[in-house]
Amino acid sequence: MKSRSSIITLLFGVIPMMVAFSAVAAEPEPIDANAAIKLARSSSCLRCHGVNKKKEGPSYKVIAAFYANNKDAEDVLIEHVTTGPKVKFTDGHKESHKSLADKNPEQIRNLIRWILAQ
Ligand code: HEC
Repeated sequence: MKSRSSIITLLFGVIPMMVAFSAVAAEPEPIDANAAIKLARSSSCLRCHGVNKKKEGPSYKVIAAFYANNKDAEDVLIEHVTTGPKVKFTDGHKESHKSLADKNPEQIRNLIRWILAQ
């Protein structure tokens, strides 16, 4: 029976292939930790943020935990580090948050994804 075998081909051949391809397509770019740290350093982010240690700003671990279930985290934080919003410091004073020195969108996203992976 020709039609039956073509359904079987579809079920066991084409559909798994589509699933496999979509899984590959959904795989995010790997994070380049070295580039992220270099950019954080050259933009003096690490002066106020430790990976584990609280400085003037919260540690990147604390930030990552806070945004763990937020699907908009990347976009929210990219905006945070590019638009200089007013932030409150522990002593109560407010100032514009530092923006990144490098404006390359891929480098910025890479840094934010690295922060969120801490
Ligand atoms: C002068 C100190 C200082 C520098 C420099 C600084 N930050 Fe911050 N950052 C802070 C403070 C303080 C907060 C907390 C703001 C708040 O809780 O409202 C913060 C918050 C953040 C957050 C969390 C924002 C949120 O919405 O929860 C991220 C991400 C961040 N900083 C990344 C960076 C990056 C990347 C750089 C380098 C461009 C940087 N920071 C440089 C002080 C600093």
